[in-house]
Amino acid sequence: MMESKGCVVWFTGLSGAGKTTTAQHLLQQLREAGARAELLDGDELRAGICKGLGFSREDRMENIKRIAYVAGLLARNGVIAIVSAITPYREMRQYARSAIGSYIEVYVDCPLEECERRDVKGLYAKARKNEIPSFTGISDPYEVPENPDIVLNAHGSTVSGNVVQVCSWLAKSGYLPAREGELV
Ligand code: ADX
Repeated sequence: MMESKGCVVWFTGLSGAGKTTTAQHLLQQLREAGARAELLDGDELRAGICKGLGFSREDRMENIKRIAYVAGLLARNGVIAIVSAITPYREMRQYARSAIGSYIEVYVDCPLEECERRDVKGLYAKARKNEIPSFTGISDPYEVPENPDIVLNAHGSTVSGNVVQVCSWLAKSGYLPAREGELV
């Protein structure tokens, strides 16, 4: 096993911005390089430990608190825990930053118009027809991160380029051995 240092790489951004795709590629890249890494995906957790939670401010907050708790446990045990969840409110991200010792915020930046054009899950169309209440970006706010550690351009740049950007940051900041910088 490569000597990586535990941390939480937290992807925030609109639905359809590319958080999960980028997170999955990052996970694969880190594992191939021999690091211990795990992915906590909002959509998946909502079918598991976050089952029953909806999209009110309160429920979303609870969702993020549970995810932050598990991610923090993993990080404390030397794992690079990657989180993919919209995390739309500043308050949530402040919470995660304060609850987790080594929290790295990655803003997956993609314009709403582009997310809506992609509409991978068909949810934006439904939200526009008022079939989904409190939909992030449409009828519920996404508060753009003010101080993210990393900003990924999820519109113009490639997924692999964005993964390299995150890995380089991790290497530069001592979470991956320096030689990892050569690999990516
Ligand atoms: S968060 O706000 O609590 O961080 P999370 O990332 O777990 O959200 O879940 C977002 C996913 O739930 C979206 O990708 C989408 O598939 C689905 N979803 C269903 N209803 C909503 C909604 N009202 N707002 C945003 N996402 C929703």
